Formats: sequence, C-alpha cells, structure tokens
Amino acid sequence: MTERRRNALIVGASRGLGFGLVETLLGLGWRVTATQRKASPQLAALASEALTVETADIDDDDAVCALRERLDAQSFDLVFVVAGVATAIADPVHEVPREVAAQVYLTNAVSPVRFAETFVDRVATGGTIAFMSSILGSVALNESGGSETYRASKAALNTYARSFEARHRGRPFGVLLIHPGWVRTDMGGADADIDIATSVAGMAEVIEGQIGKTGIAYLDYEGQPLAW
Ligand SMILES: NC(=O)c1ccc[n+]([C@@H]2O[C@H](COP(=O)([O-])OP(=O)(O)OC[C@H]3O[C@@H](n4cnc5c(N)ncnc54)[C@H](OP(=O)(O)O)[C@@H]3O)[C@@H](O)[C@H]2O)c1
Repeated sequence: MTERRRNALIVGASRGLGFGLVETLLGLGWRVTATQRKASPQLAALASEALTVETADIDDDDAVCALRERLDAQSFDLVFVVAGVATAIADPVHEVPREVAAQVYLTNAVSPVRFAETFVDRVATGGTIAFMSSILGSVALNESGGSETYRASKAALNTYARSFEARHRGRPFGVLLIHPGWVRTDMGGADADIDIATSVAGMAEVIEGQIGKTGIAYLDYEGQPLAW
C-alpha cells in the first residue's frame, strides 16, 4: 500500500525562508500550496505538478477568506504562516512612528493567528499549524534589549498562538512556534549565522517530528525548546 502524500500550505513563500521551505518540502515528496503577495519569479521557476501557487496578503481578510474558499476541497498536514516584516527593527519604540509599530504588530502577530483561525478546519488529523516566531519573541531570553517593535510583535505572536492552542485544545492537531536561526535572507542580512538551506533542512526535520503531536511547542530549527 502506498503512503498518502503529505500536503502543506506555506504562507509567505515568494522568497527567503518561505521559498526555501517550499523547495525543501517538495524535495521530500510533499505536495505544496505556496502563497505570494505578487508574482514571484523564484516560485514560478519551481513549477511542478506537486506545487500550486496562490496569491494573498495576510493583512487582507477578504483575500484570506477567498483563498480559504479556493482551497476548500483540501486538507493540510501543515499550515505554516511564514510571512513577517522587520520594519524599523533597529529603532527603539519611542522613535518608531505609531503607524509603523502598529503595522509590524498586525503583520507579525495578529494576521498569522487570524489566518490560522480561518484555516483551522482545513488541518488534517495529526497535522500541525506552524507560526514563524523568533528567539527574539522570548520574553525570558530578552537580556540585551534591542529590536524592540519586532521583539514585541513576535512575543505577541507567541502569546496569541498559546491562546489559539488553548481555544482549540482537544482537536487533533498541534501548534508549533519555530525560530529558524539567524538566517542570511533579505531580512536576516548578509552577516547572519546560517544559510537558508541549513535553516529549512532543520525546520523540515522538526516539522516532520511534530506531525501527529498535539499541544504547543516553541522550538528552534534544531528542535531545541526555547524559554517563553
Ligand atoms: N531571517 C532571519 O534571521 C529570521 C530570524 C527569525 C525569524 N524570522 C522570521 O522568518 C520569516 C521569514 O523571514 P525571511 O528572513 O525569509 O524574510 P524575507 O526574506 O524578508 O521574506 C519575508 C516574506 O514574508 C512575506 N510577507 C511579508 N508581509 C506579508 C504579508 N502581509 N502578506 C503575505 N506575505 C507577506 C514577503 O512577501 P513579499 O515578497 O511580497 O514582500 C516574503 O515572502 C518572518 O516571519 C521573520 O520574522 C527570520
């Protein structure tokens, strides 16, 4: 008997870590639906029968609902909201315009969990809803300060994800918050510790280990638990 092919929805996959995850999961034999905000030449170049490309901005509730309707017939072993921004990451909160701080909070914390809520009944039994967090979202590990609005947005994402898991406790899926490492992407910059391939290979292994688990975990790309 052949095993059912695993099915993933990767949200925010035009470039960087999202794109790397799509490439890696396809290589592992998954079927993948990848979302972009606008046409991504990188994603277009990956075209295969196992890849479907969709378009949606996670800050746009109507676009997310329309995406949900288009994907109504599918269930996913993994729904992974990767999309995020780091606007004005270097500035302390009192120097960041209020609307910029609010937008970072909306995109990094509010929109991912609203997205997950919209797709909650499209998650397969034993599946995982993953959110791209960061070690900077750990309140306990914030000894050095810095990256203020970004840190706060990822800490809020962690908090919302815990409430999301509590709200749906008893249902047959797990929730994963993952830190991808400090990675050389447009966001991470050229001086970051690791390349995309290393990060996504680690995250794919962590994800495969989470399939079938319930509850919530906050792990790095090597599977190490992080302090909240
Ligand atoms: N790189 C690191 O060291 C690092 C470390 C910890 C956590 N992270 C997190 O990892 C995730 C991916 O980061 P990255 O390094 O790959 O960054 P990136 O190269 O800047 O890519 C960001 C991705 O998010 C998408 N995106 C942004 N806002 C969106 C929205 N409103 N709706 C839909 N898509 C949106 C972007 O789409 P467009 O192409 O349309 O802009 C792009 O695909 C983020 O959540 C980030 O916070 C990164």
